[in-house]
Amino acid sequence: MMPPKVKLHPASCKYLRLGHPWITEDSYSARFPKNDFFLIGVDDRSSQPIALLINDPEHKNVKARLWSLLPEDFNSTPDFIRELEKRIKNALELRIKTNLISERDNFYLINAESDFLPGLLVLKLKDQILIQYYALFWKKKETELIKILKDQIQLQFPELPLNDIWIQERNFNQSKSIRSLSGSTHKDFQLNEFGIHYQIRLNEHYDFGIYTDMSSIRKQMKNYLVKSQSLLNLYSYTGAFSLFAMKLGAKNVVSVDLSSKYLNWLEENIAINTELNPTFHKSLCMPSEKALEKLINEQAQFESIICDPPSASSDGSSTTNALKSYEKLLPLMLKLLSQNGSLFVFLNTHTISWNKFEEKLKSIIATTEFSNKVIIGKRFKLSEDCLPLKGFHEGDYLKGFLIDFKNKNIKENV
Ligand SMILES: C[S@@+](CC[C@H](N)C(=O)[O-])C[C@H]1O[C@@H](n2cnc3c(N)ncnc32)[C@H](O)[C@@H]1O
Repeated sequence: MMPPKVKLHPASCKYLRLGHPWITEDSYSARFPKNDFFLIGVDDRSSQPIALLINDPEHKNVKARLWSLLPEDFNSTPDFIRELEKRIKNALELRIKTNLISERDNFYLINAESDFLPGLLVLKLKDQILIQYYALFWKKKETELIKILKDQIQLQFPELPLNDIWIQERNFNQSKSIRSLSGSTHKDFQLNEFGIHYQIRLNEHYDFGIYTDMSSIRKQMKNYLVKSQSLLNLYSYTGAFSLFAMKLGAKNVVSVDLSSKYLNWLEENIAINTELNPTFHKSLCMPSEKALEKLINEQAQFESIICDPPSASSDGSSTTNALKSYEKLLPLMLKLLSQNGSLFVFLNTHTISWNKFEEKLKSIIATTEFSNKVIIGKRFKLSEDCLPLKGFHEGDYLKGFLIDFKNKNIKENV
């Protein structure tokens, strides 16, 4: 049966053609029927069908997602299962080509819009598969999705023991909402990323112990961290960056997090990597800003500083957004950066563009004694298994800049 036709806002038509695959809530999408899986989007001005969409009436603000812009796909009854199989196969083949499996147990098998599987993330975590729904229509196709996924994983990763599949609905209130096909309530296990073991805890918290979207960024940072004897890791979580730097030879690593639970987890991660020397590491359980002031008072210096705040962060008393928090953090971090040092600053939100982030950093630097002495350099972007789709800025949510001194002697004269 042919899907029903729905009129689209002229702006939606424009953005669809530019590669932006979402139809958000507006006066047009408010009139979409509720019960159809597919919709044919029609340009209201020309009355021409322009896209095959998947309807998502339950989602708060993304009311439909692009499935195809090819006219042959909206001029005949869509064959969802055949297309799904093809897209999953392509996504898995891409991961095989890049040989991610030789470097890490954790990677994205499917990265949503980038793999033309909108709102669907599938993570391989050693022998566990974690499916994350960002679009709610996947719940309606769960049986088919799991069958194809299992078959394709067995076909393309025959050596991979596949022990369980977990399903998580990622929602705005961050409730866990995770279940496993085997009926397990939780799973604790270790996985290896770049030769380092990490303790994973599925279904204990909203996140499970390592941010895999940061994995390819860690790899990009290797050449900088390998030269570093000391690292200050702000907003450390379970310490992926701290352990990575220790593995690369750092002998003085300080990790800062507000949560003692995550810092204990970090220390457990160090303990399971017996080749790492735990005396080279110190945890500071306090807000990042306080930790920076304390370290400045102690006249500490670091060759590397990493700052990866959550998009909205709280120090227990007030909440600040990440961009604003740099107004206080950046001048303090610059004081702690040694003359050959590298400062890596991240922002984890699609709502602020690369340019806006860079301009903000520049304007903050301009207010410090380091203006004209430091430069903002290389960008650290999502890549490999998390490469964003061109034209889809929501997928390009993780942004990092390297800041360092223009000339290694300059800081001595400041
Ligand atoms: C996005 S995670 C960092 C991920 C980490 N960089 C990694 O790659 O594994 C954010 C962390 O910041 C911590 N946090 C939130 N507010 C904080 C604050 N004001 N000071 C220090 N840590 C904070 C949270 O407990 C959480 O562990």
